[in-house]
Amino acid sequence: MADSSNPIPAEEGPIGENDRLVSAVSGASSGFGAIYARRFAEMGHDLLLVARRQDRLDSLAAELREKYSVRVETLRADLSKPEDLLRTEERVASLRNLEYMVNSAGFGGNRQFPDVDIDLETRMIQVHCIAAMRLSRAALLPMVARKRGRLINIASAAGYLAGWGAADYTGTKAYILTFSRSLQADLRGTGVRVQALAPGFVRTEFHDSETMKNSGVKERIWKPLWCPAEKVVSVSLRQINRPVRTVACVPTLLYKLVAWGGSAWCLAPFRVLFSGGRVR
Ligand SMILES: NC(=O)c1ccc[n+]([C@@H]2O[C@H](COP(=O)([O-])OP(=O)(O)OC[C@H]3O[C@@H](n4cnc5c(N)ncnc54)[C@H](OP(=O)(O)O)[C@@H]3O)[C@@H](O)[C@H]2O)c1
Repeated sequence: MADSSNPIPAEEGPIGENDRLVSAVSGASSGFGAIYARRFAEMGHDLLLVARRQDRLDSLAAELREKYSVRVETLRADLSKPEDLLRTEERVASLRNLEYMVNSAGFGGNRQFPDVDIDLETRMIQVHCIAAMRLSRAALLPMVARKRGRLINIASAAGYLAGWGAADYTGTKAYILTFSRSLQADLRGTGVRVQALAPGFVRTEFHDSETMKNSGVKERIWKPLWCPAEKVVSVSLRQINRPVRTVACVPTLLYKLVAWGGSAWCLAPFRVLFSGGRVR
């Protein structure tokens, strides 16, 4: 792939309407999404930042304009809502020089079936699966036309496992892993690369959100199992720009073992342990 830094200086006007490179990030108001946005701004890309919290998007946009002289557009959207998703898709598909698309919007859950908030579980499928699938397709339209681009879908090491209180979380992340692998097969010969990033425990705002704050994960999970968010994003960007076409990206050796243990027959005892002795 050609150099992904922006060769053309920023001018006034909307993003995506000249030859400058543009990157789009969903879930840009915090966590991984905000870190990717900063990395793309450092590369000199103009940006489309999507999330629900407009104040967060505005302050990130101001920081990036000031620090990197890039143009930043914010789009307030709840990706569980079809009308907001459609607006986002249309904007993404219109970005002629789309270099990176990152689908990072997501959230966790902490209830066991059947005692779940079924609307929340449905929203999780809408944000993790439907929105990621539709925004992937929207991004691929300009990318395939240009014969270059990078699509990063955030899955999770949990997508390789089964565990209590996480039926839809593990299920949706497994979908992202398989969906992304199959996408790369569809994109053979187009010059477009796909990644499914599968991190383990990472300290972002994820575990403080309304749906996770009583999970006790932050207190219960052993310190060495947490990985710094900046490191996860660095590994992701390094891997997607390497010539070897590996779709799944599992940062750190420990979680590579977890991912492998999710399917290796000899590690069935580990899976039983992870699921509290409930699943083999
Ligand atoms: N942190 C971890 O341990 C971990 C591990 C593996 C995978 N992941 C995955 O990484 C991704 C990013 O999470 P994070 O760790 O960066 O957590 P985070 O800091 O809580 O960020 C989540 C982002 O998703 C956005 N979002 C949530 N619901 C949305 C909706 N309905 N519409 C639009 N945007 C929405 C949030 O923005 P608004 O609230 O402003 O909308 C926020 O920007 C998620 O897909 C998560 O499953 C996280």
